[in-house]
Amino acid sequence: MKVDLNGKIALVTGSAQGIGKAIALALAANGAAIVVNDLDAALGAETVKAVRALGSRASFIPADVSKREDVDRMVAAAESEFGAIDILVNNAGVNTPGPLRRDINEYDAAEWRRVMSVDLDGLFYCCRAASPGMVARKQGSIINIASVMGVVPIRRQSAFAAAKAAVINFSRSIALELAPHGIRANALVPGSILTQGTSALFYNPEQQKLAESLLSHIPLARPGTCEEIAHAALFLASPEASYITGTTLTVDGGWTAGFARDW
Ligand SMILES: NC(=O)c1ccc[n+]([C@@H]2O[C@H](COP(=O)([O-])OP(=O)(O)OC[C@H]3O[C@@H](n4cnc5c(N)ncnc54)[C@H](O)[C@@H]3O)[C@@H](O)[C@H]2O)c1
Repeated sequence: MKVDLNGKIALVTGSAQGIGKAIALALAANGAAIVVNDLDAALGAETVKAVRALGSRASFIPADVSKREDVDRMVAAAESEFGAIDILVNNAGVNTPGPLRRDINEYDAAEWRRVMSVDLDGLFYCCRAASPGMVARKQGSIINIASVMGVVPIRRQSAFAAAKAAVINFSRSIALELAPHGIRANALVPGSILTQGTSALFYNPEQQKLAESLLSHIPLARPGTCEEIAHAALFLASPEASYITGTTLTVDGGWTAGFARDW
């Protein structure tokens, strides 16, 4: 897909790897300058290199999105170096790792706070910090990365399920507030996506049974790619999506359409 993002500046949180990196590269390949954010400076530098190889400007600005001071500093630095933030992609996210995945009667309170602080507080801080500049310039596009877990929860990940459901409704809420200022806000809902993280968890030969069981829930019977999520983000960021705000774009191979298996 080709769109025209020449002259636009995009801040993509958590873009050192995975879905965020693919989104950064898709936006850059269509002309946007990219502010790469992550906790991982070494991998972030690789994203910057890859963006520059596509002919776009890029800088790495480290920040922990769960810390308001970090986020405010990041946004101020991005606006000072690039002049504006036109596209904000809130992608940085964490989920509860295997050993801490528990039913609510045993769920760890610190783990709940950790997930909420990155997946929900972080998103609020980034929108809070970047929106005044967008309001002043009367333009902008905000894309919040949610998850199918925020639409159809599964067990033992209540923090992630709650945070991602909140991301969807938060996106609708700010879409209402920002529309009069010419700013669009949408949620993007990935299904199960092939990344280093999911490869380590289940998409590997040792976990074939687990992967098959998961894929039996997905009508298209395969994980999605980071690029398939990036194409959707690129569309939402593009001028072609100028009448789309407050929506939830689901890219999940049919996961949330219903039951893929017979009873
Ligand atoms: N991979 C999937 O199957 C899948 C499915 C649904 C939703 N998602 C969502 O997509 C987004 C990206 O997922 P991914 O699979 O590419 O993850 P990933 O773990 O591969 O990459 C996430 C990046 O975010 C960074 N990050 C984590 N906490 C941060 C913080 N506090 N501040 C700044 N950066 C931080 C990490 O360092 C990492 O580089 C997440 O919001 C995730 O919940 C992923």
